[in-house]
Amino acid sequence: MQSHVAHVGGEHLVIDQVHFRFDTTLPIYQNLNLHIEPGEFVCVIGPSGCGKTTLLNLLAGFMTPDQGHILLRGQPIYPEDPHLGFVFQQATLFPWLSAVENVEFGLKMVNDKPPKQQRELAREYLELVGLKGFEDYLPRRLSGGMQQRVSLARTLVTQPTLLLMDEPFGALDAITRETMNDEMLRLWQELGQTVLFITHDIDEAIYLSDRIVVLNRPPHGIYRELKNALPRPRSGPATRTHELFWEYKKELMKDITQVAMSRRSDNTIG
Ligand SMILES: Nc1ncnc2c1ncn2[C@@H]1O[C@H](COP(=O)(O)OP(=O)(O)OP(=O)(O)O)[C@@H](O)[C@H]1O
Ligand SMILES: [Mg+2]
Repeated sequence: MQSHVAHVGGEHLVIDQVHFRFDTTLPIYQNLNLHIEPGEFVCVIGPSGCGKTTLLNLLAGFMTPDQGHILLRGQPIYPEDPHLGFVFQQATLFPWLSAVENVEFGLKMVNDKPPKQQRELAREYLELVGLKGFEDYLPRRLSGGMQQRVSLARTLVTQPTLLLMDEPFGALDAITRETMNDEMLRLWQELGQTVLFITHDIDEAIYLSDRIVVLNRPPHGIYRELKNALPRPRSGPATRTHELFWEYKKELMKDITQVAMSRRSDNTIG
């Protein structure tokens, strides 16, 4: 049978002069600017509390900038935009639904296909993430890595062109995480979305990205951007022992330490 898994391509994302503060606090962002090319894989790193999740919430349209613009394909972003897909740190599956029903649920939110076609598509995306044969398993019968694969399938089945990921593999052990990194690259190469991927893990950021954005402490925005010239395809040990990998790692560790040690000038956070 013909597969309906499709290359979706990515869209241009623009964050332009964004200012944001929570009600009672001092600014989290003052004049944040970031342009992401269609199909680019950007990783964002920075110490705890620097505003990574806040950035994602702004991009998802869950919160609105006080000033400035966030544009996807030239249009303001909005919360129910079907072009957006999210993957969070915890798999957040419905425990009473099987793997395929969980994926189908993602589809029901955005799709008016007949139920039989929805089920077929859900099966195809489960196969895409390597879970053929596990369609009828309830989440509690799946490992953490497998649950996160179901989560990925549930997001990808809606064919988002911008994928927002908040430490999606942060709860997994180191080996499963490396496997998921390879899976992530395979899926991205096949589907072609624009990806904004938040992580605490410098190795993960270097392994995955085209570009790494280091966030500064509030309200300073971006500390620096590093263009990642590690050759693709990335492949396990060959990539991880590449000279550039070590060079980037050294630089980024220095950056993170610098950012973590700097104090907010107004003494209100950190
Ligand atoms: N709802 C809120 N109301 C007020 N302040 C908030 C709220 N959510 C987050 N903050 C503050 O905004 C700053 C950025 O928080 P955010 O959750 O974006 O950090 P983060 O970089 O994702 O951290 P972590 O790595 O720990 O997940 C923090 O100082 C936090 O205390
Ligand atoms: Mg966070």
